[in-house]
Amino acid sequence: MILAHCCGFISCVFLFQQSPNAFEDKDIFILAGQSNMAGRGGVKNRNWDHIIPPECSSKPTILRLTATLMWEEAHEPLHQDMDPNKTCGVGPGLAFANSLLGRNPSVEVIGLVPCAFGGSSIEQWKRGSKLYNRLIKRAEAALQDGGQIRALLWYQGENDTIKKSDAELYKMRLEEFFIDIRTDLASPTLPIVQVALASALGPYIDIVRKAQLGIDLPNITCVDAKGLELMEDGVHLKTSAQVCLGKMLADAFLCLRLL
Ligand SMILES: *[C@@H]1O[C@H](CO)[C@@H](O)[C@H](O)[C@H]1NC(C)=O
Ligand SMILES: *[C@@H]1O[C@H](CO)[C@@H](O)[C@H](O)[C@H]1NC(C)=O
Ligand SMILES: *[C@@H]1O[C@H](CO)[C@@H](O)[C@H](O)[C@H]1NC(C)=O
Repeated sequence: MILAHCCGFISCVFLFQQSPNAFEDKDIFILAGQSNMAGRGGVKNRNWDHIIPPECSSKPTILRLTATLMWEEAHEPLHQDMDPNKTCGVGPGLAFANSLLGRNPSVEVIGLVPCAFGGSSIEQWKRGSKLYNRLIKRAEAALQDGGQIRALLWYQGENDTIKKSDAELYKMRLEEFFIDIRTDLASPTLPIVQVALASALGPYIDIVRKAQLGIDLPNITCVDAKGLELMEDGVHLKTSAQVCLGKMLADAFLCLRLL
């Protein structure tokens, strides 16, 4: 009993070594898109290998918002309760958060808000859709105890390479989505870091990548996942590639020079 009491006390001391309001002032990031944002690193035949590289490790200062809208210490697979009918593995989120914490002293506590959903098309993210509304609701819940949404991290579009008409409409739909999200979060210049596709489900990848790399809105930047190593399925990023992507997203976010 006494030991347990002591441990509680020690963890309080540790907590207040950070600035007093670090947990209320947390830096919040929304993660959305399809399977490669949800994370399939290390998943084969519907089994995850449970290998978590040190870059994706958990710590008390990296939180995630659960499907039931509670904060908890983030852990892989970050999206399991948000993409529950798929086997989730390692995605870019924890690697992103660890990289940011390591490099920017003004970032003390990070709140990750997983919202990605495997297989989703850009149409399924249209304003008013289930996925769109879920994102807005979670973003609002994330702000309840204080903090600021620093950015949206977005990785989607593999589905939109299947039909030529979808690929051709992708740029317009993506821009609309970004503008709507900013409007509905009342954050007209919300920073967005998006990912240009590494892989596709259909033949029209070049049209979608061109759209992604060509988005010309303020405070939106694009990192290119092309060339990152894929799993045997040819669609999903390996765990090591997700670690690399997480770092790329952190670099790109820091390059926006907002902190
Ligand atoms: C998961 O699958 C079940 C059974 O097919 C379905 O009822 C449910 O809506 C699915 N959940 C999500 C989040 O898609
Ligand atoms: C692509 O998105 C559509 C909805 O627009 C969905 O019905 C379909 O299952 C998705 N395809 C894949 C391979 O995930
Ligand atoms: C980018 O976003 C930051 C933070 O939201 C804001 O302060 C800044 O004015 C924005 N810059 C542009 C060019 O919109």
